[in-house]
Amino acid sequence: MKKQFLTSLAALLFATGLVGFAVAQQQQVQAMRSTPIDAPNRLGPDFKWEGKEGRMQRNYRQQPPLIPHSIAQYQIDTRTNQCLSCHDWTKAGERGAPTLSMTHYLDRDGNELDQLAGTRYFCNQCHVPQADVPPLVENTFQPSAPVSVR
Ligand code: HEC
Ligand code: HEC
Repeated sequence: MKKQFLTSLAALLFATGLVGFAVAQQQQVQAMRSTPIDAPNRLGPDFKWEGKEGRMQRNYRQQPPLIPHSIAQYQIDTRTNQCLSCHDWTKAGERGAPTLSMTHYLDRDGNELDQLAGTRYFCNQCHVPQADVPPLVENTFQPSAPVSVR
């Protein structure tokens, strides 16, 4: 009997804790998206980092570089990928754009391909345009190596 009471008490405390936590979360965390979920989310004005060659320094070795130009006009869907019209190895030379690195032409077994690997097709799954956004929550993050341009 006593044991059952204790179990219910524990469950009640846990549930109250969860609700309290949810309420606290709602109050403290501010979303990046300021518009309602069913309204279009407008991007901020295009932003270009003014450091060396307009490139933002990466924070760690494996970070996908941030995109130093607007991408609003480039479509990516299952039929077309306009990023490739400048960045694919077959076009990059004549368009003066950086060529996709070899990692973008390796299939999941590590075979080297002539065409972009399917796993790299949706560029903005990894690459995002540069933006002027202060951290939402103050933090003590440090890049993994000292950097010269920031
Ligand atoms: C009209 C040609 C063109 C198109 C289309 C284009 N880019 Fe670029 N991209 C460039 C050029 C040129 C640069 C070199 C930096 C600069 O001049 O802005 C660049 C730079 C980049 C970089 C930085 C590479 C680095 O090493 O820092 C990334 C990432 C990138 N583009 C991704 C994309 C993605 C993703 C798309 C499609 C949404 C795209 N680009 C479409 C021309 C293009
Ligand atoms: C799965 C994540 C992922 C996807 C998808 C992806 N990339 Fe990358 N990309 C990276 C990473 C990580 C790097 C940096 C390390 C490297 O080169 O692999 C990179 C590097 C680059 C570079 C710089 C190459 C260099 O040698 O400096 C360009 C340009 C680029 N990507 C463009 C694109 C474009 C355009 C697409 C879509 C066709 C794309 N990426 C898709 C992760 C990705």
